[in-house]
Amino acid sequence: MAETVDGPPPPAAGVPGLFGPGFVADPYPTYAWLRAHAPVHRATLPSGVEAWLVTRYRDARAALADPRLSKNPSRHSADRHASGRVGIPGERGAGLMTHLLNIDPPDHTRLRRLVSQAFTPRRVAAFEPRVRELTERLVDGFAGRGSADLIDEFAFPLPIYAICDLLGVPAEDQEDFRSWAGMMLHTSGKRGGVGRAVKRMRAYLAELIHRKRLEPGDDLISGLIRASDHGEQLTEDEAAAMAFILLFAGFETTVNLIGNGVHTLLGHPAQLALLQEGLAAGDDRLLATAVEELLRYDGPVELATWRFATEPLTLGGRSVGAGEPVLVVLAAADRDPERFDGPDTLDLTRSDNPHLGYGHGIHYCLGAPLARSEARTALAVLLRRLPDLRRPGDAPEPRWRGGLIMRGLRSLPVEFTPE
Ligand code: HEM
Repeated sequence: MAETVDGPPPPAAGVPGLFGPGFVADPYPTYAWLRAHAPVHRATLPSGVEAWLVTRYRDARAALADPRLSKNPSRHSADRHASGRVGIPGERGAGLMTHLLNIDPPDHTRLRRLVSQAFTPRRVAAFEPRVRELTERLVDGFAGRGSADLIDEFAFPLPIYAICDLLGVPAEDQEDFRSWAGMMLHTSGKRGGVGRAVKRMRAYLAELIHRKRLEPGDDLISGLIRASDHGEQLTEDEAAAMAFILLFAGFETTVNLIGNGVHTLLGHPAQLALLQEGLAAGDDRLLATAVEELLRYDGPVELATWRFATEPLTLGGRSVGAGEPVLVVLAAADRDPERFDGPDTLDLTRSDNPHLGYGHGIHYCLGAPLARSEARTALAVLLRRLPDLRRPGDAPEPRWRGGLIMRGLRSLPVEFTPE
């Protein structure tokens, strides 16, 4: 790959802390350095692949909306960076590659229009009482005990049960999903286990879609099968890929939003008290801005998924060559002092908050209404029922699970007065 640099040269001594030992626990000082000194920076990733990191808000937002940045690595040259496609381990050959995050218009436009007919804000709103029921039931499981691991017992199962219910997976099969999802989360990095879990989910969804075609219901899978655009419908393979990406994109993200969110709140007692006072008085208004602020402050998605330059272009003063991969660092953009007042301060009342936690442009998160509904309900139920939620005095330093794209806690031990 030829270097085409016309901006400031990359730092000779490397970027302080980037991908180093403390990086996943606290990447923000490194992001601040990058924003200030090398806002569009050609980095070598831990995998050895070279990619441009975009860290300033203005550049990040522009990159996410730039049609010259494609999801398809081979639109410029044959399969040069195929390994950079949105990694669903085990998906190759399983017919799951054609999903929204991997494709450009016009295919993206067609598939997104079809899925949007079925996965509507109205469907999500109607589903809210069910999210509340699931949330209450999970809290019932540990409220009498006085302690819990909020990742294992709360943040992890909630999105799995929610998306299974929404898709129309029968209750008796949902434990299988819980265990496959567990394999995906806990074995991340060990691709064999993840691949097996993906294959089983794929086979199950194919079979379920087939059944729903014969006996439709009012669930999301039946909606996907029914959706049509100019007489065109999703094929069974496309419906399976779509159901799968809804699970895959909506699972670990939501686990981490709830996990990182509660962790952040416990570290900011005054802000937590503010939220609790509102909830105790029956006032939910702060919840909405609180969830957005938690996403901005320490959101689950570090980097948007891969994009590739289809032609030579200039990004933040640097020349990016055709075919080169570009990674937009959402977590860095969302702490940019040029866009956010006091970006390193958690302010649950922040109202001017156009954060990029859900992305931007045509790939903007399709599941944002569901994620918001789950996160608001999770916080409301948890903080109302366990008002003195706290970290145990002897809690060890939190351990983080960081892939390149996602960042979240492995466990979140808490204590509270038993109900
Ligand atoms: C796309 C974040 C929850 C489904 C995205 C993108 C981001 C994101 C940043 C854009 C990626 C890119 O441009 O490369 C989040 C966060 C969530 C969340 C932070 C939770 C807190 C969900 C849920 C679902 C979902 C619950 C579905 C049930 C999707 C889908 C896309 C997407 C299908 C691809 C859209 C497209 O390419 O057109 N999400 N997401 N997400 N998300 Fe989410």
